[in-house]
Amino acid sequence: MQNPEKETKIQELLKLLEDKYAKEGQDLTVHLEGLLNSKYLNYWDYIHLDALLNLQVPKTDYSDELMFIIYHQITELYFKMILHEINNIRKQEIIDKESFFHRLNRVNWFFGQQIQSFDIISIGMEQEQFLKFRTALHPASGFQSVQYRMTEIASTDFINLVSKDHRDDFHDYSTIDQMFEKIYWKKGAIDVATGRKTLTLKQFEEKYSEVLIRFANDCVSTNLWSIFKRLPFEAQEDERLISEMRKYDTYANINWPLAHYKYAVSYLIRSKQIVPSTGGTNWQKYLPPRFQKQIFFPSLWSEQELQDWGKSWVESEVFAHLM
Ligand code: HEM
Repeated sequence: MQNPEKETKIQELLKLLEDKYAKEGQDLTVHLEGLLNSKYLNYWDYIHLDALLNLQVPKTDYSDELMFIIYHQITELYFKMILHEINNIRKQEIIDKESFFHRLNRVNWFFGQQIQSFDIISIGMEQEQFLKFRTALHPASGFQSVQYRMTEIASTDFINLVSKDHRDDFHDYSTIDQMFEKIYWKKGAIDVATGRKTLTLKQFEEKYSEVLIRFANDCVSTNLWSIFKRLPFEAQEDERLISEMRKYDTYANINWPLAHYKYAVSYLIRSKQIVPSTGGTNWQKYLPPRFQKQIFFPSLWSEQELQDWGKSWVESEVFAHLM
């Protein structure tokens, strides 16, 4: 025997494997033989690199369109990481203050990185090229990002996503189906020219309404805000946790929308003329957070802070482009 410790370890593992396979009525020897015949893993197969690098398919010959696609895909992956962490909180039957904080802190890191990374777009894409290739993209718009919507739904009570003019129409017994019709983004997606629902919205509703309503029903008592409100009183008063919650609200409902809006302005305003968006919304009124006033955790903010929502120096900087 070359190495008795190793030998014992192998015997232990074999016993564990035998028990595991026996439970499912499987023969361990067949699986061991399969292991003998299988190939070693490599990096490119593991992360599906070939598939990943084939997912960027421009619609035009403008070279910067590739950057546009890649950056949207990167953002979707960030949304996936954010949703994954939020779902980790949602799935725990009982969650304590520390793990809630720890997971939320991760969410904030991902959001923070995403907000910072918006600058990639301004470096990687010329306005001239964007204004050309975007004409081939109608009516597709980031507006149709289902993960963005799911992040919102998983973060707060549904009523907080209802357009602010309609919140008083609902009460504690209103259903998700009833409120869904008045969610803020449906109100925003009205065609500037016709006053009717944009095609962008119609496409999105057709593909995702059912999925989103089902998800929203799942989130009624497991969204971040409702979970926070069920934490022990001492945890709900914890300054460190409150500050992390406020940070998330700020990232998701002020800083990300502002960073995004800043680029919408810099790409869609040309010689002081406003260019219509691919999604057809009245975007200068729809996108700024001070108009939307989506707030996930309203009672963590003072009256003044709620009133001043989104009126930061960044916003004045953004608006300076419009003047
Ligand atoms: C040059 C870059 C960009 C421009 C000009 C732009 C423009 C717009 C406009 C005008 C809207 C409003 C809907 C519409 O009328 O189409 C919108 C919505 C949206 N875009 Fe972008 N966008 C850009 C980059 C991005 C990127 C990189 C993402 C990341 C996925 C993104 C995600 C979204 C989302 C999630 C919305 C919905 C926001 C909401 O409903 O509050 N956009 N975008």
